[in-house]
Amino acid sequence: MHILNTVEEVRAWRGDGNLGFVPTMGALHEGHASLIRASAADNERTVVSIFVNPTQFGPNEDLDKYPRTLDADFKLCEAAGADAVFTPDRAMIYRPGFCTWVEVEGLGDRLCGASRPGHFRGVTTVVSKLFNIVRPTRAYFGQKDAQQALILKRMTADLNLPIKLVICPIIREPDGLAMSSRNRYLSEDERKRAVGLSKALGEVQKLFESGTRTAGVLHGQLVTVLDDYADKLDYAEVVSAETLEPVLEVNGPTLVAAAAFFGSTRLIDNVILGLRA
Ligand code: PAJ
Repeated sequence: MHILNTVEEVRAWRGDGNLGFVPTMGALHEGHASLIRASAADNERTVVSIFVNPTQFGPNEDLDKYPRTLDADFKLCEAAGADAVFTPDRAMIYRPGFCTWVEVEGLGDRLCGASRPGHFRGVTTVVSKLFNIVRPTRAYFGQKDAQQALILKRMTADLNLPIKLVICPIIREPDGLAMSSRNRYLSEDERKRAVGLSKALGEVQKLFESGTRTAGVLHGQLVTVLDDYADKLDYAEVVSAETLEPVLEVNGPTLVAAAAFFGSTRLIDNVILGLRA
């Protein structure tokens, strides 16, 4: 497996042919591995990027303490089938005088965007830059970050980028907790309670499957269960899976998404209702 540190090294390695790309911020787990495996199955070669992107963190967020586990990350990438890992440093991605941003309007202001102003502008900017450096055929993202996936699809379409985005299912711990690099911040007690996020979404799904279509009822159930487990609710929403606009009734693909704090750790999870099998 090649370790690529600079833009020039990526360009020299790229060549022609199908290339799958998995952008990450490192501290890799089985969720990331599932994206790498999907890419390795679909493409001649796969490159993973590991870059903790400062522009998507707010001033009071965890940029400085974001977990960095580079040696273990390289092993995971290789075992999952990556051919190369790109690990640029901050100064290479954000050169002095940097002032060009990519922003998807509207979609980035809701849900996570409402509590993390500027977050999605940082994500769309860095992913555009990485796309330009890597020039992938396909890029792989997780449904775990449903809003991010939707925004990046919009960006790719709006900018006519010749890249196919593949959105992969959420990988969970045996008790249902969605895997996340931030799970390692949790104390033992917080870890036990964090299962409440997937439990609450599971309860909403059950209600939906037993015939409930009123968004207010589904939302009520989500909040009630979350209140039992979380220290603080950030948001709980029942919205159109396409526009992220709130819905009154579930009669098309509907995203049920929540963010909650366990101690000082903010976790997110979601489920989509009403997708035809
Ligand atoms: P990061 O949080 O490292 O996630 C990288 C990719 O892994 C994202 O597409 C995310 O949705 C996916 N992922 C994380 N946990 C997952 C899980 N449990 N199951 C399935 N997929 C999962 O998302 C980012 O980094 C950054 O915003 C990035 C796109 C790299 C831009 O900086």
